[in-house]
Amino acid sequence: MKLEGKVALVTGSSQGIGQAIVLRLAAEGANVIINYRSHPEGAEETLAKVEATGGKCYMAHCPNQGFTIKADLGSVSEVQQLIAQSIDHFGKLDILVNNAGIEKHAPFWEVTEADYDAVMNVNLKGVFFATQAFVQHLMRTKRTGKIINISSVHEELPFPNFTAYCASKGGMKMLARNLAIELGALGITINNVAPGAIETPINTKLLNDPQKLGALLQNIPLGRLGQPQDVASLVAFLASKDTDYITGSTFFVDGGLLWNYQEQ
Ligand code: BGC
Repeated sequence: MKLEGKVALVTGSSQGIGQAIVLRLAAEGANVIINYRSHPEGAEETLAKVEATGGKCYMAHCPNQGFTIKADLGSVSEVQQLIAQSIDHFGKLDILVNNAGIEKHAPFWEVTEADYDAVMNVNLKGVFFATQAFVQHLMRTKRTGKIINISSVHEELPFPNFTAYCASKGGMKMLARNLAIELGALGITINNVAPGAIETPINTKLLNDPQKLGALLQNIPLGRLGQPQDVASLVAFLASKDTDYITGSTFFVDGGLLWNYQEQ
């Protein structure tokens, strides 16, 4: 197991990609903090799955392997509390997965300030300050660590009607590049995982619209939507010692979507 003895916090892990990441890190032997904002039942479900399948516990009940914490990533004070409580619970933190993210559909000229703030606060400000609190903890304890951001193909690719979302993911790209330099001397690495179209609650609407879904599938060379596990396996790799020399990079998990251009 690659993550024996490590403690990982995965933000937004009551469902979707975050939940799959928690399960995969736990299967690799990590202790995990499950964070949720509005779905305590999802967080409990994630925890129950960790306890049932956590590799470290070999199917036995292991109440100490996982823990749930409620926090809104859009609030800096809640973000700071989340990091502090995570450290309190397991005594330290080694891996931060900035996964929580939201998107709002609207033509640019109709975007409200409230929707812009909601997206930017969770997707960028929350990530910024969670990472800052994590880095401060590593500096205090004189240890190295790993930061993995769940970005999107839309840190590169335009996505009309989701301009705030794209701006937040573009910001996440530069956050990782910048911090790779600032944190390098501390032995802390930071990388982005950029999913394409993954079957999760964030795109329920799309999944229920056969026409839109069909058009999207045409753009994916591998011919299928991604599954949360497709993303989680890469995160587990980036969280491991095998990637100690990798920082400041983005890795796409998109079935080939990003660079697919064809002329008929
Ligand atoms: C978005 C999804 C979208 C996918 C592919 C993701 O970042 O969250 O809504 O379907 O990118 O465009």
